[in-house]
Amino acid sequence: MATINRIGVIGCGQMGGGIAQVAAQSGYQVTMFDVSGSQLEKAMTGMEKSLTKLSEKGKLKGTVAEVIKRVRPVSQIEELGNCDFVIEAASENRELKLKLFGDLDRIVPKGAILCTNTSSISITEIARQTSRAEKVAGMHFMNPVPLMSLVEGIRGLATSNETFKIVREVAESMGKVFIEAKDAPGFVVNRVLLPFINEAFFALQEGLASPKDIDQAIRLGLNHPMGPFELADYVGLDVCLSVMEILHRDLGDSKYRPAPLLRKYVEAGWFGKKTGRGVYVY
Ligand SMILES: NC(=O)c1ccc[n+]([C@@H]2O[C@H](COP(=O)([O-])OP(=O)(O)OC[C@H]3O[C@@H](n4cnc5c(N)ncnc54)[C@H](O)[C@@H]3O)[C@@H](O)[C@H]2O)c1
Repeated sequence: MATINRIGVIGCGQMGGGIAQVAAQSGYQVTMFDVSGSQLEKAMTGMEKSLTKLSEKGKLKGTVAEVIKRVRPVSQIEELGNCDFVIEAASENRELKLKLFGDLDRIVPKGAILCTNTSSISITEIARQTSRAEKVAGMHFMNPVPLMSLVEGIRGLATSNETFKIVREVAESMGKVFIEAKDAPGFVVNRVLLPFINEAFFALQEGLASPKDIDQAIRLGLNHPMGPFELADYVGLDVCLSVMEILHRDLGDSKYRPAPLLRKYVEAGWFGKKTGRGVYVY
């Protein structure tokens, strides 16, 4: 395996904080960059809590303090200058990510691999902002990162076999299971999940069954741990709508049209757990 010592993580929100944590748990030195000081503090506190829980369950190699010591929180992107491998997990905003990759290309050594955790932006377009498109790939972690074992690896049009091999090795060294997907809207998980959730909204809209019964039917009938509405409320209905809109626009097929009821809930501000109301009231 290529020698990767220091991993840079950009953005330490829900995903970046988790990615920094699993990288440090796996023995990597981690530089975690965010523009927001309060987010950096929040991520460090969250990490300590999560690691303590894992340690109590006997699932942590080494002590909490040893893992935390490997993470260096920084507020300047230039601090990523000594990283061999960078995973970008900043806010899902196209302009922001395109600019970040241009900046990274100037700051990070030429041999380093640059990955993005984007859910919906073209890896190929992100790679084009750099002078090393062959060293850019997608690395799509699942939420919450410390608990979910999947990573979808995505090849941009120019990603080299050598780069992709290293991306797989890094994901596997973090204890993740790696699957390979093409650079297409939604990759695999969201391409299948979101139309499934959307269809549940169509069913609800048609009065096929109550939300509780639809969730119960899927849990027991398909052996899913959560029903589609429980999951949608957890993910955020605003996020679900935005992914459906991207699938609809980019794949151009009417089968991806968002359910009017999903749109109505979002218009009402019923985004799910985070706003106290979605399909269910919390
Ligand atoms: N939340 C999920 O379930 C999920 C799952 C898979 C992938 N993703 C992807 O992961 C990425 C991050 O999502 P999230 O849910 O963690 O978002 P989030 O809003 O929780 O965190 C985003 C972080 O990026 C930081 N940020 C914004 N601009 C920045 C900049 N210029 N430089 C550095 N940091 C900056 C913010 O301060 C914030 O801490 C997105 O691309 C998203 O599509 C999210």
